[in-house]
Amino acid sequence: MPNLLNLASSPLLPLLALPIFYWAITLRKRKPKETNLVFYVHDNFSGYDTSAMTVAGKNGPTTSVLEFGTLVAVDDPVTEGPDPRSKEIGRAQGLYINSQLDGKGLHMVFSVIFTEGEYKGSTLEIQGADPFSVKEREYSIVSGTGYFRFVRGYGIMTTEFLDVPNLRAILKHNVTLMHY
Ligand SMILES: *[C@@H]1O[C@H](CO)[C@@H](O)[C@H](O)[C@H]1NC(C)=O
Ligand SMILES: *[C@@H]1O[C@H](CO)[C@@H](O)[C@H](O)[C@H]1NC(C)=O
Repeated sequence: MPNLLNLASSPLLPLLALPIFYWAITLRKRKPKETNLVFYVHDNFSGYDTSAMTVAGKNGPTTSVLEFGTLVAVDDPVTEGPDPRSKEIGRAQGLYINSQLDGKGLHMVFSVIFTEGEYKGSTLEIQGADPFSVKEREYSIVSGTGYFRFVRGYGIMTTEFLDVPNLRAILKHNVTLMHY
């Protein structure tokens, strides 16, 4: 009858150890990395470089984004620095909808598509609330592609510049990401 002590000296032992060894290596490889990055989004509803457009609202596409229910499509430049002339590293493409009854909050769903620099070809998928009158708004990063596969994280958004009559804004995003 085989007993456990005999097993220890059995030629099968290395075979039994193999899966544990493999598991230990995989586990080590899966240790998450943390990446922090800061970028700026230029949201211009007017001017020669309009990159945000109202597509629907209570009174059609002419409704202000500051009214509950207004839906906006964006393809905003993403730059390295706060200056609109600083290097463009990607685009923020997606939509936001005014989702607060008093008009003071947006819900954002967009991709940051990196087109230049270290993360070129990768994307971050952003979804969250933007109560824009609050100084620092925290939102979630739900996923990503390329370098950012399996990413999760959060971002803190602050308004660096705001021109209300012309609906132009520069938004700073400071994101913290956990990924493999
Ligand atoms: C957006 O608006 C800002 C502020 O008016 C302006 O300086 C900038 O040139 C515009 N365009 C882009 C691409 O940021
Ligand atoms: C970004 O946010 C982190 C905390 O989440 C903070 O430590 C860091 O100083 C911020 N960086 C910038 C440039 O604001």
